[in-house]
Amino acid sequence: MSVDWLELEKVATNWVYEAGHKIKKTLAGPIDIESKSNPDDLVTEVDRAIEAFFYEKIQEAFPEHYFLGEEGISDEEPSLDGTVWIIDPIDGTMNFIHQKQNFAISVAIYHNKVGMIGLIYDVMRDELFHAHRGKGAFLNGAELPPVKERPLHESVIGLNARWVVEETNPYRNPLKALVRDVRSIRSYGSAALEMAYVASDRLDGYLSVQLSPWDYAAGMIILNEVGCVASNFQGDPLSLTDSGTLFASKPHLHKEIISIYIGEEY
Ligand code: IPD
Ligand code: CA
Ligand code: CA
Ligand code: CA
Repeated sequence: MSVDWLELEKVATNWVYEAGHKIKKTLAGPIDIESKSNPDDLVTEVDRAIEAFFYEKIQEAFPEHYFLGEEGISDEEPSLDGTVWIIDPIDGTMNFIHQKQNFAISVAIYHNKVGMIGLIYDVMRDELFHAHRGKGAFLNGAELPPVKERPLHESVIGLNARWVVEETNPYRNPLKALVRDVRSIRSYGSAALEMAYVASDRLDGYLSVQLSPWDYAAGMIILNEVGCVASNFQGDPLSLTDSGTLFASKPHLHKEIISIYIGEEY
């Protein structure tokens, strides 16, 4: 069955705005918080409710589509053949809880493993980054230009500062060297937004030692449309099923940072 991508983009965008409105409303009251794999790995009732909102909408409108979300609302193993929605209902849950800002909804639609539509919505700033494969990337409807390169020593890189003090992190030394050599480092606490910031030239690159497909699925599509590259630390393609390292940046910087700092297998 052929897919009407423009219609799908419109529907997904409306759902993202509706979900953003729901999240905003929850900020007025108390929110139930639990931890998952460790005391700092947090999830709230809002993360779960927003994932369920998308799951139900998709099931109703497109029952043949698959669904992959961080909070595991769908009980089936999604297939990557056909159309699959990869969703992080709140990327930056820690920010959502502690700051009530600097978090995003991340929605990606892939078809036969090819990224077609990516949406990253900063709910509190009302900034929607979106991309449609082959048609460009946009911020609130204004097309993002192809990115401009800067030399490494003038680059500002997104990185969770904890990675460079983590004794057990195998990339600690290469990341320390990188932090020393670039112009500066920023840590925003939302991988999706940090990827969108690379695409919109607010950052030159973003690195993470551990991310999952729902963190980067939409970001990859947006980055691709402005000529940026997203891969693992060795430069290999990112997986849509497994977690791992992520390095997103402008293309020349990507080659340079992989060859000088992080490309070696640890
Ligand atoms: C997290 C954020 C954070 C990144 C973590 C992610 P979550 O996602 O993107 O910036 O450093 O690795 O897990 O749990 O808030 O959706
Ligand atoms: Ca999480
Ligand atoms: Ca996430
Ligand atoms: Ca999340």
